[in-house]
Amino acid sequence: MIHRNLLAGLTGILVFSSAYAAPDPVNDEKATKMASTAGCFTCHTLKHVDKKDGSKPIGPAWADVAAQYKDKPGAADFLTRIVLEGSNPYSSHWKNKAAGIAMPPNAVAISEGDARQLVFWILSH
Ligand code: HEC
Repeated sequence: MIHRNLLAGLTGILVFSSAYAAPDPVNDEKATKMASTAGCFTCHTLKHVDKKDGSKPIGPAWADVAAQYKDKPGAADFLTRIVLEGSNPYSSHWKNKAAGIAMPPNAVAISEGDARQLVFWILSH
């Protein structure tokens, strides 16, 4: 457990210290198209939906992701990596808030440039 936390901490430092320029902004239509082409909406919705039966969505609503990360420095780079490479099932960021324990890597479905644009768009909500 100690290792895992140490590793997560180091990864965080590495990820947060790399600064990339912000991509050209995309409009809602283009972002929605990129997300549906890449299959993101299989697991995500844009807005938070409280289901009547109390069940959780597979992945967190993107509005919740935006609220969680908006003011964190380096969040866009951090999240772009996770979108491309997948999330760590041993340290879920959305434990008890999403039904899925991990996000699979999406690099097969979306380019790095598009993923970055999409993440910037997500964070703008
Ligand atoms: C098979 C289901 C699935 C697909 C497809 C999927 N996601 Fe996810 N996503 C998840 C789950 C589950 C989580 C929560 C991971 C966690 O708890 O750490 C997540 C988390 C995220 C997060 C927040 C990451 C974090 O660490 O807080 C972002 C941003 C995100 N997804 C964007 C995307 C984008 C963009 C796409 C499409 C390119 C996509 N997702 C496709 C299931 C999916």
